Parts: sequence; structure tokens; C-alpha cells
Amino acid sequence: MSNQFQRMQDDLAGQTVLVTGAAGGVGRAVTKLCGERGAKLVLCDVTSTEQTAAVNHGVEGVLAVHQMDCSVRAQVEEVASTVGAVDVLIDTAGICPRDDWMHEDWDIAFEQVINVNVRGPINLARAFMPGMIERKYGRIVLCGSLAGWTGGLRSSPHYVAAKGGVHALVRWLAMRATPHGVCVNGVAPGPVASAMTDGQGYTPDDFPLKRLGTPEEVASMIAFLASPAASYVAGTVIDCNGGIYLR
Ligand SMILES: NC(=O)c1ccc[n+]([C@@H]2O[C@H](COP(=O)([O-])OP(=O)(O)OC[C@H]3O[C@@H](n4cnc5c(N)ncnc54)[C@H](O)[C@@H]3O)[C@@H](O)[C@H]2O)c1
Repeated sequence: MSNQFQRMQDDLAGQTVLVTGAAGGVGRAVTKLCGERGAKLVLCDVTSTEQTAAVNHGVEGVLAVHQMDCSVRAQVEEVASTVGAVDVLIDTAGICPRDDWMHEDWDIAFEQVINVNVRGPINLARAFMPGMIERKYGRIVLCGSLAGWTGGLRSSPHYVAAKGGVHALVRWLAMRATPHGVCVNGVAPGPVASAMTDGQGYTPDDFPLKRLGTPEEVASMIAFLASPAASYVAGTVIDCNGGIYLR
């Protein structure tokens, strides 16, 4: 494959890419990368539009910024009706409370984690996948986690169960979307240096590469799955964990 063909395949020129969690570590990195590759970007986060816009200042190709709680179907549907057709959906919204499952309030946290991390992608897929199927093209990329495969390093059981659910959801969605030219995939990052891991006591020396991953490294995998280059990748969750299984 020539370099020119590869460049063309990575290109997102003219494609509308909706990113959730766009104010977060991975979300900002993937937003920037997709912008550099020519995407027209719709940025969504539960945080204020001002905050999401500010942390993505200077990013190329931003069409719109929305405050949207992906766990609330009505909010997702409202954004979908405003935005219209989307070629690529990238869901990086997520929460990972570090708490004690024996605590009396834990069940509230359980519901929040399941609502954001599992109901969120379901709401998003309900809003955007049918249009992709109709147009016979689309890419959906969800964020799973190492925790969803292994039980995690420091995560609580709601997060672990939610991310295992995301991995299963990738398969469920892909079974329905793939025959229509819509590729649904996921990434399963190991620990990544972002607000989610900040101050949680991860030790770089514990990992084969002697460091945590960067949001940009996860973004690079997501942008590949979001691109025409991933035309023969469907229903898979790709590890991006710095070789953590080598420990
Ligand atoms: N950081 C890690 O170590 C790591 C590891 C494995 C998987 N992941 C997953 O990768 C994704 C991105 O994580 P990150 O490191 O960028 O975390 P982050 O905390 O930096 O960003 C998450 C973003 O999601 C947004 N968000 C939270 N709830 C939301 C909701 N209900 N609706 C819309 N947006 C919401 C937050 O406001 C934030 O901007 C998450 O799904 C996370 O679970 C992260």
C-alpha cells in the first residue's frame, strides 16, 4: 500500500464526527486528531459548552459544541435532531468512581456508573446508528477498558462490570450494523494519564513500558477505527495498554 493511499484512508475530510466526553483527556486528544485529519466536529460533554469549547480552543473543524448528558436519552435525541447526519460516533464519556462497594451509598454510585458507561453508549447508538445504517456507511467507536477484560487494577466492581458490558455491547451493535457497512468497534485502554487516573496511585514502574499511556496514544487507535482505513475491522475491541499482559 502506498503512503499516499494510506494517507487518504486515514483522512476524515468532509466527515461529520461526533465526540462525547470531548472535555476529557481522551476526548480532547481524539478531537484534536480528527480535526487535523479534516473532520467536521460536534463536541459533546456533560460539562458546560463554555468549558468544552475552552479546553478544545484552537481545534480545527469544530462545527458545534453541546452540553449533553449521554445517560439521558432525551438529551441525546435532542442533540441528534439538531446535528442531523453523523458519519462517525466516538464515545469517550465515562466515569470511574473509586469507592467502597460495601458502603451503604454504593448502590447510587452503581446506578450512575451503569447509566453513564452502559446506558450512554446505548442511547448514542439508538440515536445515530439507524441513520448510518440507512446511509450504508458509519463508524462507531466505544471506550471499553482493560478493567472490562481482567477485573481491573484499582477499579470498583460497577466500573469493571460496566466496561465488560461495553465490550459485549460492541459485539451486539456490530452484529446488527456490520451487514449495512457500519463498523462498530471499541478500544480497551490500560491506565492512561488523565483526570480519571490522577492521584489514584498508579506507579509507572508497574507497567512494561514504565509509564502510563497518554490520551494521544488512545486517540490514535480510536481515530484509526473511526477512519475509512478500518474498513475491514468490525465487532472487535482493541487493546491499547502498553503490553500490560506481559507483566
Ligand atoms: N483514563 C484511563 O485510565 C482509562 C482506562 C481505560 C478506559 N478509559 C475510558 O476511556 C474513556 C475516556 O476516559 P478519560 O481518561 O478521557 O477520562 P476523563 O475523566 O478525562 O474524561 C471523561 C469525560 O467524560 C465526561 N462525562 C462524564 N459523564 C458524562 C455524561 N454523563 N455525559 C457526557 N459526558 C460525560 C466528563 O465530563 C469528562 O470530560 C472513558 O470511557 C474511560 O472509562 C479510561
